[in-house]
Amino acid sequence: MNEMRGVIRGEIGKNIIYPGVVDSTNNLALELGEKGAAHGTVVIADQQTKGRGRLGRVWVSPPGVNIYMSVLLKPQFSPRDAMLLTVMAGVACCRALRDISGLIVMLKWPNDLLISDRKVGGILTETKFSGNMMHTAVVGIGINVNTELTEFPADVRAIATSLRNESNREYSRTTLAAAILNEMETWYDMLRRGGRAEVCNEWRRLSLMIGRAVEVADDKEVYRGIAEDIDEEGQLLIKLPTGSVITINTGDLIILR
Ligand code: BTN
Repeated sequence: MNEMRGVIRGEIGKNIIYPGVVDSTNNLALELGEKGAAHGTVVIADQQTKGRGRLGRVWVSPPGVNIYMSVLLKPQFSPRDAMLLTVMAGVACCRALRDISGLIVMLKWPNDLLISDRKVGGILTETKFSGNMMHTAVVGIGINVNTELTEFPADVRAIATSLRNESNREYSRTTLAAAILNEMETWYDMLRRGGRAEVCNEWRRLSLMIGRAVEVADDKEVYRGIAEDIDEEGQLLIKLPTGSVITINTGDLIILR
């Protein structure tokens, strides 16, 4: 991965830490953030022993085949914008994976990267606040690159895929990771300059959700309706059969048809 140095264009990825094996790259990036590491510091591991997904799930992280990467950001955004960072990172990953693989990679709210409705990657954003400002965000990115599906446990195998599984070829993780980081530089910078509408527009273009019937559950209720849009904080707007529109900012989403 050392050859990344020559291909990184901006601040994101200028400083890269390679721990080899780590519990979770998000943990290490959060720790480094506490110790004063610079904005744009990136942790890339070969294997994770306690990779995490959203909602307390395990992220299966076998050695030598996939991307496990966390980007430390020092944003000046309000806490309400945490979701927008996941949307921004989704756009960056989706564009990079499409560009390098030529495959039709799509975004599913809030954090999934899909190919033919199977999960090829996911994003886990974790944030720290002081008062009313977000001062640290770690955007964790897991991409199934060269894994054979047999390496996954049966429950994951049923819903997951890898780039290799979709195209019968192997990919350079370095090339992919560098492409993701360069895309993130562009789209994060767009956010920083007030371009949230541009980021959300690109998300809409790459998403398979808008106009589809969906079901989403939060801690209290299950809602069914039509995914109308995302708002400029990255939250999902769902139109219920009653005609009212609700805003969802967490939960598990199923696309019904
Ligand atoms: C999800 O889809 O639930 C999010 C998955 C995020 C996985 C990545 S792998 C790198 C980083 N470190 C972690 O422990 N999780 C994220």
